[in-house]
Amino acid sequence: MPPCTADTGADRTATARVGPGRAPGTSLNPGHVTSDDVDLGGGLPASAYVDPGRHQAERRAVFAREWIAVGDVGRLDRPGSYLATTVAGYPIVVVNDAGRLRGFHNVCRHRSGPLVWDGEGTCRSLVCRYHGWSYSLQGDLLSARDFGPDPPAGDLSLVGLAVGTWRGLLFVNLDGEAPPLTGWLGAVVARCAPWDMERLRVVHRSGHDLAANWKVYAENYQEGYHIPLVHPGLHRQIDSSRYEVELVGPAAFHSAPTRDGSITNGAWLWRFPGFALNLYHSGMSLETYWPTGPTSTRVEYTFFSAPDAPDGEAEATVENSVRVLDEDRVICEAVQRNLTSGSSRPPVLSPRHEGGVALVHRLVERALAVVPGDDIA
Ligand code: FES
Ligand SMILES: [Fe+2]
Repeated sequence: MPPCTADTGADRTATARVGPGRAPGTSLNPGHVTSDDVDLGGGLPASAYVDPGRHQAERRAVFAREWIAVGDVGRLDRPGSYLATTVAGYPIVVVNDAGRLRGFHNVCRHRSGPLVWDGEGTCRSLVCRYHGWSYSLQGDLLSARDFGPDPPAGDLSLVGLAVGTWRGLLFVNLDGEAPPLTGWLGAVVARCAPWDMERLRVVHRSGHDLAANWKVYAENYQEGYHIPLVHPGLHRQIDSSRYEVELVGPAAFHSAPTRDGSITNGAWLWRFPGFALNLYHSGMSLETYWPTGPTSTRVEYTFFSAPDAPDGEAEATVENSVRVLDEDRVICEAVQRNLTSGSSRPPVLSPRHEGGVALVHRLVERALAVVPGDDIA
């Protein structure tokens, strides 16, 4: 379920952020989950949410192969600026090399030291924090400090990764054979076409760690079934009974009308495994998440606002969103405790509401079938 939501009050500016009501008849099953080919059966066993081997397999089969959003390109707008982070356990660094963005594993070729500590900054070269080997911003080894009479032999360039930008957002892909980013985004591109995303400015960045497997969070995002119980404030604003999730390949598009029946024109978009975008008339929010362990997930948000947004609206949006996100955190962590307990039984999915949950299961299983095994990538 999209996290960026309206206030619980009757403020019209806020309710307009909630999202679109889709015209009757545009889905296969109006008012219900729609899907091109989702089979609800099966589900994942509880072990899929706790097993360390499964975690490593999903890191490699899912997060090392899909595009992962890491924020906005504005973080790297100056030559020499860099962003280092750890995505699903993979340490990465993206640098602005005279206007061109390049990505590398943040792992020195000497003995795997870090080139930069996680965070942001500027540099003219990448100098390993362990013994001081230095690399150009193209990733070439410049010097192996005090190595010996002769320099080390062979190609010791940094190991690269793909960097992509799309409409102001920054993505990385660890797969050397990654498809182009826009092709990967697929139907998301057309859904965002009407929106003037480029005029928006970042107003807030934040994130938190969640004590739950990443799939618990992904599944939670994919249904509005829980809104009446978990998000009472949001429930007072939108008609949860008419919440829809339209599935298009590995993407999902959410919608729900407001209770007053007003016409809204937002867009809630999700793309497997961890990319979510919430567009509304005066801004948008990016949400991205990835596993940090078998039962832990990192969730990061970037909020954008239009220059002409009413005073205080961006702050109100962030505040409201943080409340809903925390409500999701609490329920996801409770679900994880039950999955870990050994008391859990296989899931039983609602055909009305949980086609998106089944989609998560299917895409994960498909990825693991392509890249089997439980060893570390
Ligand atoms: S590990 Fe990088 S210089 Fe030694
Ligand atoms: Fe939720």
